[in-house]
Amino acid sequence: MPFESVGACRKALLLVTVLVAAVLIAASLAILLALMLRSAADNGSESSYRLPTDVKPVSYALTLAPFIYSSNPGDCYFTGSVSIAVEAVNDTDMFKLHSVRLEVPTVRLRNSTGGDVIVDKIEENVEKQWLTIKLGEPLRAGETYTVLIDRFKGKFVKNGKTGLYLSSSYSENSTEYYLVSSQLEPIHAREVFPCFDEPAMKAEFNVSLVRGREFTALSNMPIKSSSSVPGNTWFSNSVEPKVVIKDDFETTPTMSTYTLAFLVAKFESISHSDSKGRVFTNWLSPELVKKSNFTLSVAAKAIEAFEKLLNVSYKTNITKQAGVPLLNFEAMENWGLIIYQQNILMYNENTTTTLSKLTNALTVSHEIVHQWFGNLVTMKWWNEIWLNEAFSTFYSYLGLEWGSESDLDSHFVMFQKYLFDMNFERKRYKVHPIQMDVSTPTEIDGIFDYIVYQKGASE
Ligand SMILES: *[C@@H]1O[C@H](CO)[C@@H](O)[C@H](O)[C@H]1NC(C)=O
Ligand SMILES: *[C@@H]1O[C@H](CO)[C@@H](O)[C@H](O)[C@H]1NC(C)=O
Ligand SMILES: *[C@@H]1O[C@H](CO)[C@@H](O)[C@H](O)[C@H]1NC(C)=O
Ligand SMILES: *[C@@H]1O[C@H](CO)[C@@H](O)[C@H](O)[C@H]1NC(C)=O
Ligand SMILES: *[C@@H]1O[C@H](CO)[C@@H](O)[C@H](O)[C@H]1NC(C)=O
Ligand SMILES: *[C@@H]1O[C@H](CO)[C@@H](O)[C@H](O)[C@H]1NC(C)=O
Ligand SMILES: *[C@@H]1O[C@H](CO)[C@@H](O)[C@H](O)[C@H]1NC(C)=O
Ligand SMILES: *[C@@H]1O[C@H](CO)[C@@H](O)[C@H](O)[C@H]1NC(C)=O
Repeated sequence: MPFESVGACRKALLLVTVLVAAVLIAASLAILLALMLRSAADNGSESSYRLPTDVKPVSYALTLAPFIYSSNPGDCYFTGSVSIAVEAVNDTDMFKLHSVRLEVPTVRLRNSTGGDVIVDKIEENVEKQWLTIKLGEPLRAGETYTVLIDRFKGKFVKNGKTGLYLSSSYSENSTEYYLVSSQLEPIHAREVFPCFDEPAMKAEFNVSLVRGREFTALSNMPIKSSSSVPGNTWFSNSVEPKVVIKDDFETTPTMSTYTLAFLVAKFESISHSDSKGRVFTNWLSPELVKKSNFTLSVAAKAIEAFEKLLNVSYKTNITKQAGVPLLNFEAMENWGLIIYQQNILMYNENTTTTLSKLTNALTVSHEIVHQWFGNLVTMKWWNEIWLNEAFSTFYSYLGLEWGSESDLDSHFVMFQKYLFDMNFERKRYKVHPIQMDVSTPTEIDGIFDYIVYQKGASE
């Protein structure tokens, strides 16, 4: 619109007036442009819940040490250190990092030659769930820096099922063992370590987990190396464990924070290799793991089916599935380490109903196809979560077509349309479009509903 009025002025007015008008218009355009740029750049302004994009993460080195070795869950906690290689996209003298309920003692910053960048002030905004780090000198566009946060600490929320959380695992010789597992989708990575917790802010991750000697640590990637260190390296004042193991995992592909996974437990595994030499492993507590081989073969066959169907090869050659006693959802598709409610992985030919067999297989197939829809290709923001969930719900049926289960089409209609209508009535869901604007943490958490999964899949 401003451009049309410039044209009209030129024709109608004398030279002087034109010049004055042009100067005025140029000035107001400049102000308008500056305001627009500011609101675009300052995504993290007071009204927005989005991080500014001036600084982008490239690579993380994260060590997490959960202390789960007390018989009193209230004494359990986790601690860790993270260094984040970042690139300045624009000159800026501040940046923001998500962090929720974490004790963060310091944030330091180094430039590419190892010099310290002065940190002026760290401010926490509890509502926006972030820390604002104000710098004494600006970061320069195009330069790389390292953010260092040593020995942050977090508490396990009582009965929590997000972030890194504690579950009672099983008892042996009257000792109760705990396990710790993670659920980071959609916005819970920030409860585990300070990070840029938005799906489009992808990076690679070098994860290390610290565990007791008789425990197993699992993360997205296979273990690269392990070393023993004294327990008090990580756990202050602890008598036990005297020695802990630090497992370093291979570098992940470039990925979103929400598909990271961390698990420390007394687990055992069974495994299976497919014709291409890819390895599938199920991890569960010792008394359950032997009953899980059906879902192991479902995963392997679903991958072959999806590779044929989508014509994109599967990117992970070691896939782990783990079953835990407590999970917020039925399952979570973390890249390379899918975590399920443990009953979903179990099968007994004499006692499992045909319906459970089918729905459990569909859940496995749903998580497997997420390795393409979501992990490989990710929505920019949570308003498009249906691209993950509705597609995976739809494709989960196609991942089972190898099986003896006939009539998947009518099951699809039954589960996705009929049950959708029924639950929709019964649970009185609020009506909303499949694609919906979401901004606050509560809105983002709330969008994982029947409309996105079931209505999305059957449209
Ligand atoms: C993660 O590991 C890769 C491969 O060794 C390395 O290039 C990268 O610098 C590491 N990232 C961090 C933040 O240390
Ligand atoms: C920040 O840098 C990017 C990439 O160079 C550029 O496209 C953008 O306009 C810059 N934003 C501001 C506010 O300077
Ligand atoms: C890094 O910081 C040091 C100390 O402030 C400074 O001398 C050096 O020039 C900086 N290097 C870069 C690449 O900015
Ligand atoms: C439990 O006790 C049995 C029998 O004494 C023993 O074989 C087993 O190793 C013990 N388990 C643990 C975890 O200590
Ligand atoms: C699972 O393992 C048991 C015992 O090894 C075996 O009898 C059964 O056939 C296996 N089931 C599948 C689906 O592989
Ligand atoms: C994709 O399709 C082409 C043509 O049929 C085939 O040659 C290729 O192997 C397929 N790739 C994958 C990953 O399935
Ligand atoms: C898995 O892939 C990695 C890297 O692409 C390769 O080094 C490794 O040998 C592969 N493992 C198997 C079992 O194919
Ligand atoms: C199922 O029942 C048969 C016959 O009683 C028995 O031999 C088999 O071990 C049972 N399978 C399982 C997994 O319990």
